[in-house]
Amino acid sequence: MALVVKEKWCIGNIFKTVMSANAGIQNVLKVMDYGLSQNDVSFVDSKDRPDNHISLHPFKAFSFTHDAHSCIFTFMMKDMIERIKQATVYDVAVVTPLEQASKLSRQLNNKVLLKREDLQPVFSFKLRGAYNRMAALSPEDAKNGVVAASAGNHAQGVALSARQLGITATIVMPKTTPAIKVDAVRHLGAEVILHGNTYDDACSYAYTLRDERQAVFIHPYDDPAVIAGQATIAVEILEQHPEHIDTFFIPVGGGGLIAGMAAWIKHCRPASKIVGVEPDDAGCFHAALQAGKRVELEQVGIFADGVAVKQIGETTFELARNLVDEVILVSTDEICAAIMDIFDDTRTITEPAGALAVAGMKKYARREEVLDQTLIAVNSGANMNFDRLRHVAERAEIGEQCEGLLAVTIPERPGSFRDFCDLFAEQGITEFNYRYSDAAEAHVFVGVKLSRGVEEQEMMLAMFKKHGYDAIDMTDNEMAKIHTRYMVGGRASHAVDDEILYRFEFPERPGALLRFLNHMATGWNISLFHYRNHGAAYGRVLVGMQVPQEDMPQFQKFLDDVGYRYSCETDNPAYKLFLK
Ligand SMILES: Cc1ncc(COP(=O)(O)O)c(C=O)c1O
Repeated sequence: MALVVKEKWCIGNIFKTVMSANAGIQNVLKVMDYGLSQNDVSFVDSKDRPDNHISLHPFKAFSFTHDAHSCIFTFMMKDMIERIKQATVYDVAVVTPLEQASKLSRQLNNKVLLKREDLQPVFSFKLRGAYNRMAALSPEDAKNGVVAASAGNHAQGVALSARQLGITATIVMPKTTPAIKVDAVRHLGAEVILHGNTYDDACSYAYTLRDERQAVFIHPYDDPAVIAGQATIAVEILEQHPEHIDTFFIPVGGGGLIAGMAAWIKHCRPASKIVGVEPDDAGCFHAALQAGKRVELEQVGIFADGVAVKQIGETTFELARNLVDEVILVSTDEICAAIMDIFDDTRTITEPAGALAVAGMKKYARREEVLDQTLIAVNSGANMNFDRLRHVAERAEIGEQCEGLLAVTIPERPGSFRDFCDLFAEQGITEFNYRYSDAAEAHVFVGVKLSRGVEEQEMMLAMFKKHGYDAIDMTDNEMAKIHTRYMVGGRASHAVDDEILYRFEFPERPGALLRFLNHMATGWNISLFHYRNHGAAYGRVLVGMQVPQEDMPQFQKFLDDVGYRYSCETDNPAYKLFLK
């Protein structure tokens, strides 16, 4: 009996078809005509393959020889290329620009082009795959509506597609989803159900709903129609840039985007390289490649929430593992720096997942020292929570190696603060936190602007050591960056005589602090200092000084001479309650 395998493939379904038709495997393989022979497929353990599970767990039921794997891949590729050619996305998606990023191009000495998927109607590419999947539903399938689980971009893609197609959509979102995203999905006309605390909780409830309502589940990535929809980005790029492209950088979550794009690119331009990019705390594709099989990460970082996926898809992995040349992992700080770079070139803020590709491109270009090549990064989304911006701005400087953080020990005596600041008078200071705690020595938390990255940081450390200061590099110390820097200070360990507290507005330029210190009388000790560059026009500084009562007229003269705006805070209850 001959069997035609044509629709709804995925490895599981191929074998489901085999089993349900009760046909010999050899017949199916003959029809597939990809050279697979019966010896390439062997049954492993019959107790692992109860008939009703066979479509869901094909690998448990069968083991493939290497050749069989490559035959299946050939089959998948052929099918995928046909699907991409027929993909329908432009009823909801737009052809986005492929723009040269001039600053990044200069910085990396290569031609950098950004595919602006952040300019899609729902601010990410995800509507392409969702629409392609849903547009193909038969009226019979569509009549009970669709169900999806998502905390973000997929939800908006499904909701918009459903509205366009006149299908009802129910989206299950974790209870922790920010209100802005819940509102956006509701606004598009979808029913939103908040369930559980994590994506996994929401997803299992979505499957229950699908069964109850006999609805269709729209998977965010592990579905050939979704993958083909995402691939239309690659189709556009190759039309927009007919000349050779050296390397593509593509963010990876569950792998739908990279699997689809890579299939089209390698089909049309096999000489182009494809690099996947993942956060270093959510590298499910990287882990799967290393293990040679899909693995489930125990935990995933959620900073780049669009790609916070524990396990790469089954179909996406089978395609991507054969097509992608390399996967690069990037840190949160590198992602923040990439958001800043994209902003500098486009005046647009991308979400963390949306900036992943640029972060990976920078790392790759520096590592490989490539010159004058054409590099393309997909800016995949811009659904950024506004309250994240503070964190992004804070970390971007470190990710770009523009800011170094140090803990330095200096002697606790009048004038030592100035001697210390003298050492880096011309260096921009980004942070300076100190509180009196010990009669002998003082620990200062310092941030410095760097223009030559790590090399300059190492030179500074050596210079401090040469002048007898103990200095520890804190730039990569997560606890210091997230917590300690805000906790330096507090109450002095014992009474600080004659302490007065003033708030100042320093002009934001190198030398402003030194000018302040040079105007101070030599006998006054600085017992508290708090400064952090927040990008305001003026540096806001809180200073505690030990000034004897009889010196107060001279102190007033100092305030007038230095000329910075000030206010006395010695009677402020915040000082009395938390600092004194
Ligand atoms: C902004 C953004 N970038 C990248 C991705 C990764 O796509 P995929 O899951 O298809 O790998 C997603 C997924 O939702 C996303 O929202």
